[in-house]
Amino acid sequence: MIQLLANTRSKEYPVFLSAGAMKEAGNLWRSRGREGKIVLITDSNVANLFLGPVETAFTKAGFAVKAIVVDAGEEAKSLAEATRLYSELFRMQTRRRDAVCALGGGVVGDLAGFIASTYMRGIGLVQIPTTLLSQVDSSIGGKVGINIAEAKNYVGSFYQPDMVITDPELLKTLSRGQLVEGLAEVVKYALLAGADFFEALESSYEEFLVMNMAFVEPMVRRCIEYKLGVVSDDERDYGRRALLNFGHSVGHGIETAGKYTAYSHGQAVALGLLAAVRISEQVYSLSGDYSARLQSLLELLGLPTRLEGIDPAEVIATMSSDKKADDLSANMVLLKAIGEPVINCDVDAAMLRREVDRLVTGD
Ligand SMILES: NC(=O)c1ccc[n+]([C@@H]2O[C@H](COP(=O)([O-])OP(=O)(O)OC[C@H]3O[C@@H](n4cnc5c(N)ncnc54)[C@H](O)[C@@H]3O)[C@@H](O)[C@H]2O)c1
Ligand SMILES: [Zn+2]
Repeated sequence: MIQLLANTRSKEYPVFLSAGAMKEAGNLWRSRGREGKIVLITDSNVANLFLGPVETAFTKAGFAVKAIVVDAGEEAKSLAEATRLYSELFRMQTRRRDAVCALGGGVVGDLAGFIASTYMRGIGLVQIPTTLLSQVDSSIGGKVGINIAEAKNYVGSFYQPDMVITDPELLKTLSRGQLVEGLAEVVKYALLAGADFFEALESSYEEFLVMNMAFVEPMVRRCIEYKLGVVSDDERDYGRRALLNFGHSVGHGIETAGKYTAYSHGQAVALGLLAAVRISEQVYSLSGDYSARLQSLLELLGLPTRLEGIDPAEVIATMSSDKKADDLSANMVLLKAIGEPVINCDVDAAMLRREVDRLVTGD
């Protein structure tokens, strides 16, 4: 079992990573000196797949387990659902020594994490991420929260889990579409972390698509290590954590302009990465033919490289109202080289517009 350590200012916690790790959930929690019961929060799809085995893993280690199932889908990240969960926890006589275990993708992780961070001013939290996106991104770093009618992720807190159990075997039941969502983030990490990571994806991306654990596990590990490194330095997102927004300025613009239906997050990020790499080639003379290489990698993975059905002007307009962009021209992450990102880059509006147009025309 690989044990990675998250070392943030507010908490130090382990990320246990290995194929089959889920079965050890109870023993690992016990080895952390924990008692009390476990309230498993999961969604209707994941419940059918893994609720039984995870319940068993905790009960065989002597924990009492209760389960709450929410409907699968982004709608569960709402105040209405949170209210229902608080009452359920109360009815289950959940106390401060007990813990919530989030079993699912980013939706369940964010919602259950938010519940754990606020119920009785904070109780234990275990994350067992079941999508690629949640394994490499949302389960680590401590951002938890819900959506409001007006905007996504506007209500929440920073609340680190006490333990994360990352079992890449669980990814085998993901649809191709869900897998590809996470692969966009993996490509992001590769560009941020270094050429050898990117080259490994270029030469062996098929191993990911067929879920060869010998390839998937080390790749997931590299992503987690990268994110943990960044988050440990900047838990509350004042500085270096902005690195993780690479590809996300244009990406969020596309997601929002498409009203969250035209393009999924991963698809929008893929296009955002392409734009950011092309801009890096102009601003920092990024060499190595990465825009062409990235374009082929994204195509091989089944991610889009062309923007269709969305007005580029709309993308630019929504970017300027993005909560993460105080000043549009000064908030892009660019690359000096692969593995050498720079935050807060000044990109002039004309260049940005040209590159979003280019996503449409493709030339
Ligand atoms: N907190 C953070 O730092 C952070 C970072 C990125 C994204 N997010 C949030 O994450 C959410 C998206 O997460 P997601 O992409 O994991 O979506 P998700 O949680 O909705 O999961 C996607 C779908 O896959 C299903 N599923 C989950 N695991 C499965 C498995 N192993 N096999 C088959 N089906 C499975 C789910 O039921 C769901 O239908 C968004 O709400 C986003 O805001 C949070
Ligand atoms: Zn993302």
